[in-house]
Amino acid sequence: MIFRSLGCAFSIAGAGVLFVSGCSDESTGTPNGGASPTPSAGMTGVAGGGAGGGGSAAGGTASGGSVGMGGTAAGSGNPGGATAGGVAPVGGTPAMGGMSGAGGTMPTEYTLPTVTWPSAECTAKVSDLIGKMTNAEKAAQMVMGQNPSTSVVTSTSLGTVFCGGTLTPPGGSKASDWAGMIDGYMAAAAANRLQIPLLYGIDAVHGASKTTGSVLFPHNAGLGSTRDPQLVEDIGHVTAVEAAAQGMSWTFAPSLSVSFDDRWGRVFESFSEDPDLAGLLGAAAVVGLQGRQGLGSGGPGIVACGKHFAGDGQATAGTSSKGGVLDRGNVQIDEAKMRKYGIAPYERAIKAGMGTIMVSDARWNNANMTSSQKLITTILKGELAFKGAVATDWQAAAEAGGVEATVNAGVDVLMEPTEWQNVAGTIANAIGKGISADRVNDAVRRVLSVKCQAGLFGKTRDMTLMSKIGSAEHRALGRRAVAESLVLLQNDKNTLPLKKNGKFWVAGSGADSLERQCGGWSVSWQGGGGGTTGTTIKAAIAKAGTVVANVADADAAVVVLSEKTYAEFLGDSATIDTLSQADWDLLQQARASGKPVVAIVVSGRPVIITSHLAQADAWIAAWLPGTEGDGVADVLFGDRKFTGKLSHSWPKTEAQTNSNLGDAGYDPLFKLGHGLSF
Ligand code: BGC
Repeated sequence: MIFRSLGCAFSIAGAGVLFVSGCSDESTGTPNGGASPTPSAGMTGVAGGGAGGGGSAAGGTASGGSVGMGGTAAGSGNPGGATAGGVAPVGGTPAMGGMSGAGGTMPTEYTLPTVTWPSAECTAKVSDLIGKMTNAEKAAQMVMGQNPSTSVVTSTSLGTVFCGGTLTPPGGSKASDWAGMIDGYMAAAAANRLQIPLLYGIDAVHGASKTTGSVLFPHNAGLGSTRDPQLVEDIGHVTAVEAAAQGMSWTFAPSLSVSFDDRWGRVFESFSEDPDLAGLLGAAAVVGLQGRQGLGSGGPGIVACGKHFAGDGQATAGTSSKGGVLDRGNVQIDEAKMRKYGIAPYERAIKAGMGTIMVSDARWNNANMTSSQKLITTILKGELAFKGAVATDWQAAAEAGGVEATVNAGVDVLMEPTEWQNVAGTIANAIGKGISADRVNDAVRRVLSVKCQAGLFGKTRDMTLMSKIGSAEHRALGRRAVAESLVLLQNDKNTLPLKKNGKFWVAGSGADSLERQCGGWSVSWQGGGGGTTGTTIKAAIAKAGTVVANVADADAAVVVLSEKTYAEFLGDSATIDTLSQADWDLLQQARASGKPVVAIVVSGRPVIITSHLAQADAWIAAWLPGTEGDGVADVLFGDRKFTGKLSHSWPKTEAQTNSNLGDAGYDPLFKLGHGLSF
């Protein structure tokens, strides 16, 4: 395979405008896909199978483009937008804050590829397959089942197996448990009539995050604070390595949400309230997950799935259909704002070859997005020329008008954890009646193109990757990401950096808790990071000094205040005053000691700290840093300087929970882009 890229120059100017010039490219590829799989019946363990398998080739065309980060785009005001449904005061939509917004600057030059796919070879292979498939086999490529039995995978030719929520493999969540289970599914799929490989999907959202022992990186709000697309790409690559080691081939990531309201239970999944920053880092994540030249070029890459299209994070408070505040709610914005905040973040990721997109299980001005022909077919597949497959979110078709309406709107794969066989039956029976044969062929072509381009035909799990899970090299990247993601909000009396080899009182619910550091989507849906391997903040501080039991004996106090873990609508909260009284009491105790006090906030969203500011000299927003607490110590003790800049505005009051850069009356405690250093 030969790739030749001649650069295109991209630059950011004005309010987030992307200029492209001098772009030409040429590449040729030899896609993988011709080899016949050699299924080994009953292969369920980690042993056996050859290394590598199949190789990979992108086959598409790619061109590079450098994105200049030195721009100084000013936020242009854009008040109005979302209206709160009685839960809290009305806020608005953030301005296109560009790369610098209120002070945040991009530290590096970064190159994003432009990828054209599928390859001619994959196009031919897929056409050939479609010509041989029965209606039932086609319908089976259009559904996702959650961990069914392996025998039914073979008999139905099921196209995708996934594991969401709280399910784990039999035996536990170790990499070997996952690999053993997924090997069984891969072998079962390879034994189907046409030997069409399976996609195995999972929420690897901040690392291979359902596996104990993998490196869990900062969640996206923390990565947004790094303003470092190359770092985000590198994390995507490591995530792909650790996931592919276990046989996972598809991740429901990255989130391309632009969070407007801190009461949402998914703020931490959003790179930023700034759509330009969210789009850039989302595209960088896709490049890291899949490979620089698109699917199949990543060595190993896995298929990315940008989510949730469109308007994610922009729903109105009080409209949640799941009993939360705004998760899966109603996005009440006009089309111009939807395009700017809810759709634009997908553009660069699509150009970089993103293989799949998950449509939002929410409403746009009361119309369900899962069955929105305008959003999926007209805008996404038409205007944005998205070539990949569109999937639904969890059981979303039922409330969106049903299976036929969903497929006819342009959805290619339905996530139906338990009902997938019935849904596949419904699709098969509707072909040529409620659903045209062309629409089904288009859906199947997209799914099979993803599989072919990703090099899944004939591929077996690369056994050499297992040893990389949680490796020192991966942990070092995590540690750096943590250090870059921390935002120094306040540093009175130059309290930081702390002097090494001193005595430190380290207290608070987040001080010695991997679970709190990792947050939701960690081993388990609502959070289970406590069961994995890593370094807590307290353990990291203990390497640089002595941790003492009494604050009276300390040179300084470090109090780590933290939120309980959560995910999705279960994390929606009517209030963002979510830190516990027990943590505030510890902070008060630290202040009363007369010692210098450092407060570290471990949270999935900006939380209310205003009335407590005077109780600490230094304040740090640590977001949800993941397993590598050493990165916290690195900036606390000055081995690295703080460089993090807020990815989300930090409210002063509850009334500002949905006030974002550019809104009328914007006056948060700390603005988007705020971050001190020393
Ligand atoms: C979430 C998605 C997730 C899916 C699979 C849904 O509830 O909204 O983001 O990818 O579950 O776990």
